[in-house]
Formats: sequence, C-alpha cells, structure tokens
Amino acid sequence: MLPDYYEFYNPVKIVSGHKALENLPYELDQLGAKRPIIVTDKGVSGAGLVDIVKNAFADSDMIIGAIFDNTPPDSSIDTVNELVKVYRSNDCDSIVAVGGGSVIDTAKGLNIVITEDADDLAKFMGAEMLKKPMKPLIVIPTTSGTGSEVTLAAVINNPEKKMKMPFTSYHLLPKVAILDTRMTLTMPPKITAATGMDALTHAVEAFICDQKNPVSDAHAMVAISMIRDNLVKAVKDRKDKKARLAMSNASCLAGAAFSNSMVGIVHALGHATGGVCHVPHGVAMSIFLPFGLEYNIDASREYISELLFPLGGAEIYAATPKDKRAEKSIELIRNLQKELHSLSGLPMTLKEAGVEKSQLEEIAKTAINDGSLIYNPLDVNVDEALAVLKKAYE
Ligand SMILES: NC(=O)c1ccc[n+]([C@@H]2O[C@H](COP(=O)([O-])OP(=O)(O)OC[C@H]3O[C@@H](n4cnc5c(N)ncnc54)[C@H](O)[C@@H]3O)[C@@H](O)[C@H]2O)c1
Ligand SMILES: [Fe+2]
Repeated sequence: MLPDYYEFYNPVKIVSGHKALENLPYELDQLGAKRPIIVTDKGVSGAGLVDIVKNAFADSDMIIGAIFDNTPPDSSIDTVNELVKVYRSNDCDSIVAVGGGSVIDTAKGLNIVITEDADDLAKFMGAEMLKKPMKPLIVIPTTSGTGSEVTLAAVINNPEKKMKMPFTSYHLLPKVAILDTRMTLTMPPKITAATGMDALTHAVEAFICDQKNPVSDAHAMVAISMIRDNLVKAVKDRKDKKARLAMSNASCLAGAAFSNSMVGIVHALGHATGGVCHVPHGVAMSIFLPFGLEYNIDASREYISELLFPLGGAEIYAATPKDKRAEKSIELIRNLQKELHSLSGLPMTLKEAGVEKSQLEEIAKTAINDGSLIYNPLDVNVDEALAVLKKAYE
C-alpha cells in the first residue's frame, strides 16, 4: 500500500566486507578527522576486537586520541557524562564506536553532549531536541541486531528513574557504518541469537506499523529473508563468515527500515522490561515478538500474511492458504525461537529471563508510556499490556 505521504532518509555510507575495516583511516580522513576517540566495552575489547581496529591505523597518520572501554550494558547517562570528560581532556575531534547497541548508543550520547557544548545528556531527551550537525561518528557494529549504526535513535538507561531514555534526531545518524566480518566472529551463540531476533523484530515491526512505506518495506523484506537463511547458521557455527556478514547486512537493513517507519508493541514492552528488570533487549524481543503479532493480527492480517514470503520462502508461502498465512508466519517465528532456545539457551519466557511475576504490573505501566506505541497498528492500554505480559510469562 502506498501512503499518501511518507519520508525515508538514510544518509549513512555503508562499507561492507570481510576486511572492510581497513578503510577506517580513509573514511575518517574524508570527514576531516585526525584524532578519534574509540568507544567500546570490556567484552568487545576482551575479545581482541579493538586490536583489529588499532591495526587498521598502522599505515596512517591518524592518531587515536583515547580508548574508552567502560561502557555498561544498555548504556547509562552517567557513563556518557564521564566519557565527555575523557573526550575533551584528550583533545579528540571525532568518534569511532566499536561494539553492540550499548556502545553505539553511548557514542551517540557523547556526540550530543560535545556538539551541544553541554555537560549533562539528560537535558536533551526526546525527539528532535538537537539542531546542530554533529561531530564525525563512524560505527563498527560487533553484534548483528540493533541496527543502531543506521538509526536516528539512541536508547540510554537512566538507572535512577529505572527507565530507558529515548533520544531521536536526524543529526544522530552516524556518517559511516563499517560492517566487517571479523567483528562478529567472536560473538557467543546466545548473544548472536538474541541480537538476531532484535534485527528480525525491527524488520517485522517496521513492516506492520503505521508509518510503513515502500522503501522501508523493501529494506524489511530483504532483511527478513537474510535472517531466515543465516541466523541459525551463525548460531551453530560462529566462524561461518558468510552467515556473519549476511547477518550484519540484515541487521543494518532492518535498522534503516525501522529508523524510518518506527516500531510497535514488541519494542514498547521490551524497553519497559529492560528498564525495570534488565532483561537484555534482544532476549525481550524474541520473547514478545509472537505475542505482539498475535495482539495486532486483526488490524494487520494482510501484512503479517505477506511476511510469510520472506519468513518461509516461496514454497511455504504458495502452499499455505491465504487465510492461514498470518498464523503460519507467527508459527514460523515460534519455531525459530524454539530452535534458538535449544541451540543457545535463549530464554523463551519472561520467567526464564529472570523476571518476577510481581514486576509485570510495573512493566505494563512503563510500556504504555513508550513512544514506540504511537506507531503500533492498535492502541494498547495498561490492562492489554498486562495481558500480553502474562501470556509471555511462562
Ligand atoms: N539505537 C537504536 O536504534 C537501538 C535499536 C535497538 C536496540 N538498541 C539498544 O542497544 C542495546 C543492546 O545492544 P546489543 O543487543 O547490541 O548488545 P550489547 O551492546 O549490550 O552487547 C551485549 C554483550 O555482548 C558483548 N559483545 C558484543 N559484541 C561482541 C563480539 N563481537 N564478541 C564478543 N562479545 C561481544 C558485549 O561486550 C556485551 O557484553 C540496548 O540498550 C538497546 O536498547 C538501540
Ligand atoms: Fe530493537
């Protein structure tokens, strides 16, 4: 369906390849940068990935101004404010983020504060609060899930308020995303599975939510078929280079899709579960995705049916009667979830993910205030959110 009006914007240069990282100094130079800070976390640096990045600088006159590896899971406002001091005291002029969504969003938060010449990120929460072009930011994702390398969003935890704070602006989009196979080979199976389900959720929600459009649809469809063909392979054999690079590309495509069309109930519940109980984002996505589709099935039957083509392939699509395709799409997602559970231990219920039943009400109350619900095909109130949470509990 062609909307009467839509916008699609993705100016991020994508560089993809088994050794794409070797282009990093060139890309920084093109942006006029000389002294980047590298933002990462302990898991990523411990896996030896920062060394690969450092080696890429060997034949260049680029100087690494500082390396910061103290990023916590889900980022944190306080960490961003601490990072600002490191950036300034080392005279850096640009940012290279090497990590998953937590690192990338931390780097985006840093970019907000230094560009605005401020001290506290909290002042800039919300949509379109930023008016100035940002410092050069190059992102090297080490998970294949968030798509944050091509999104206009940063989600940063505020531990005091127990909520994940959203920041959105076109200025937040990185300049370059480098997808290098070597960066994801070390990702453990469970994180591969969880982050892959995050990417799938981005593509699926982008395809059914209210702001969908033909360009986001095209990105979402290709992303889903790449995930169908490569996620299980990457979980089974972490060194499968083709599957790894395909998953990085799928995640990037799904990110570009949802950055423009937005997401829905699955993300609203996932952000709330992350904020209240610290369940990793991808784990929450995997648990809620089938329930979110069931919630929306009456309003979105046509789109959920169309999803069967990339989810199942041409043969399954053709063999399934038209009025059963939506249910079949959800069944295939449940099958994938089960396979990932048996291969990697990816939790299938909130209980398994460590959530207490007594926390469900707080999650429901937090979820209905999440911005993702604006674009969900159906409205969601506290009781409806709670009903979905109870179904996903055990
Ligand atoms: N900005 C956006 O558009 C957007 C979209 C979705 C999610 N998010 C946010 O992203 C965050 C989650 O990011 P994530 O799922 O990528 O996980 P993450 O960044 O928290 O990483 C998870 C763990 O995996 C480790 N790790 C990452 N890459 C590795 C590798 N290659 N080898 C070994 N270990 C590795 C990390 O050290 C960390 O311990 C959440 O805060 C979520 O809200 C943001
Ligand atoms: Fe997500």
